[in-house]
Amino acid sequence: MICSSSTGKKKLWRANCARLAATLPRPLQPPRHAFPGGTATQQARRKCAPPPPPSACCLFLPPRAGPPGHQVHSSSSVSSPPSPTRRRRAATGSKLSHHQLIMFMWWPWSWQGTALTAAAWLCLHVAVARLMEALWWRPRRLERHFARHGVRGPGYRFFFGSSLELIRLMVDASSRPAPPEAPHDVLPRVLAFYHHWRKLYGPMHLIWFGSTPRLVVSQPELIREVLLSRAEHFDRYDAHPLIRQFEGLGLSNLHGDEWARRRKILTPGFHTENLTLLVPFVGDTVQRMLEDRVFSGAGAGEVEVDVAEWYQRLPQDVMTLATFGRNYDEGSVVFRLQGEHGSYATEAHSKVFIPGYRFIPTRKNRRVWQLDREIKRLLGTFVNGLQSGDHRSGGRDHGRAGGMREFMSFMAPAMSVDEIIEESKNFFFAGKETLTSLLTWATVALAMHPEWQDRARREVVDLCGRRSLPTRDHLPRLKTVGMIINETLRLYPPAVAMIRKAKHDVDLGGCTVPAGTEIMMPIMGVHHDAEVWGTDATEFNPGRFADDRDRPRQQMAFLPFGGGGRVCIGQNLALIVAKVALALVLQRCEVRPSPAYVHAPRVLMILNPQHGAPVIFRPL
Ligand code: HEM
Repeated sequence: MICSSSTGKKKLWRANCARLAATLPRPLQPPRHAFPGGTATQQARRKCAPPPPPSACCLFLPPRAGPPGHQVHSSSSVSSPPSPTRRRRAATGSKLSHHQLIMFMWWPWSWQGTALTAAAWLCLHVAVARLMEALWWRPRRLERHFARHGVRGPGYRFFFGSSLELIRLMVDASSRPAPPEAPHDVLPRVLAFYHHWRKLYGPMHLIWFGSTPRLVVSQPELIREVLLSRAEHFDRYDAHPLIRQFEGLGLSNLHGDEWARRRKILTPGFHTENLTLLVPFVGDTVQRMLEDRVFSGAGAGEVEVDVAEWYQRLPQDVMTLATFGRNYDEGSVVFRLQGEHGSYATEAHSKVFIPGYRFIPTRKNRRVWQLDREIKRLLGTFVNGLQSGDHRSGGRDHGRAGGMREFMSFMAPAMSVDEIIEESKNFFFAGKETLTSLLTWATVALAMHPEWQDRARREVVDLCGRRSLPTRDHLPRLKTVGMIINETLRLYPPAVAMIRKAKHDVDLGGCTVPAGTEIMMPIMGVHHDAEVWGTDATEFNPGRFADDRDRPRQQMAFLPFGGGGRVCIGQNLALIVAKVALALVLQRCEVRPSPAYVHAPRVLMILNPQHGAPVIFRPL
């Protein structure tokens, strides 16, 4: 029965308070010297304050402050003898001063509570001070430091740095196509912020990614220092977690000894002698692609092909064969799954980053986890097969890969399943998009420059005839095709910039660069620099690569594949595939830009055409 009488309520209330007081930890109880307690306190409280509702009493008041007539003792205060002060006060009938009473009534915490509040207050102050240090004082100090060395840039803005202005410049530039009178002058469109701030602040200037300082360095002699002569002072910059997840924890994202170990394992697989064995496969694949898309129609008609889409199959097939060899079919499944995985990561990257969001079981996240599991299961099966001696042929595929030794056979004996999964993910990302970008821009450039197209076609036909596939022996003799590829890489480098991070304070070009500063080297900016390449820097002139002495390359002014110890491991593969593919296209077709084509390169991780790349193919 619910107790309805007031006596019943009081009893219940007392019992509750007594139980609570007994369970309260001692630190919550007021010290006896501060609150003499006992009868005096209770009397005083009874006089001055109305009885609080039970819940309020339990939450805010020390246990001795009960309702009228009620006396609650903690277990310890019941058993412990009264202190000398209490005895004296009880004897003299001493009362609390008015001030003490007010304090006691309105200051509901014990001294421990007060200490806790003070500590919380202090923590808050420290946190705010740290935040201000990171988001305001440090950036301002660094800004002054760089200014003293003559390095300036767009001023630091609280929290955002220069990001908002950078985004505005990029969005503005991408709303207009490249100028028709100088179509290859694409730097102001692709790296609009660099082009704008370089004019204002010079080749070495300071920008801010949020509160992180990013020193832009575009003088080849300083780039040489960062990548080569003083490379030990700089580390590869850590990509955004989502990009890392997408790229895989492979060579591109590793550091120090682990990077060196992996690079040593993988390098032999990328030697030219091994890779040129892939030439027949590349030729067959391009021939099939042409048959499917260009020659499949009513006969000799013209066909419009979006080459940015069309070329994707080639790097995908080549990377699959080079990585998996005889297990090509299973490898295709893995790469297809990795492609899907990557598309989720790219999509997530274009949205606002919410830390920990990828662990929430949304529909897409569950699909990503499922893809992860499936990829691991499939790769685990191959690797276990290879590790248990199934690579007695030395990993050489005498079928489609023409005796090439697959990358998997280098990795399987020396790396764990997880490492191999991450590495193959990394190859897939690093190889597929970059190679597609190179082939796309080279075809667009050939379509825009019929004179170079004719010259290169004559070379191919002279060497390989009208219908034979190029062989590995033809490769070094396809000089004009090689020059066109180089000029394309100069004007349209798939990776438009590289970033490093200073490991400690280091001197660069007379300026002390503090530890943690990021160094951005705008590859495209260097490639379009008239001081290095001459007044025709923004014109398509493959002839500049005819000279074997190759001066700009030695000067670190031509770096489509990076430079130094971390130079692209796949550059030989990329150049072989590009040469064979372009030679075949030139041999079999004439290309010109579609009337629908808008020349609008833009960077989304890799340089690609903003509105696609439709090109008209006329079979020859
Ligand atoms: C036209 C095609 C390609 C271009 C323009 C290109 C460009 C680059 C650049 C600029 C770097 C250096 C990044 C840096 O230092 O921060 C790099 C590194 C790398 N590339 Fe490529 N790449 C291409 C093709 C490939 C291919 C086909 C693969 C295939 C496996 C590949 C795998 C890698 C790897 C693994 C790294 C990291 C190397 C390391 O840090 O040790 N790349 N690439």
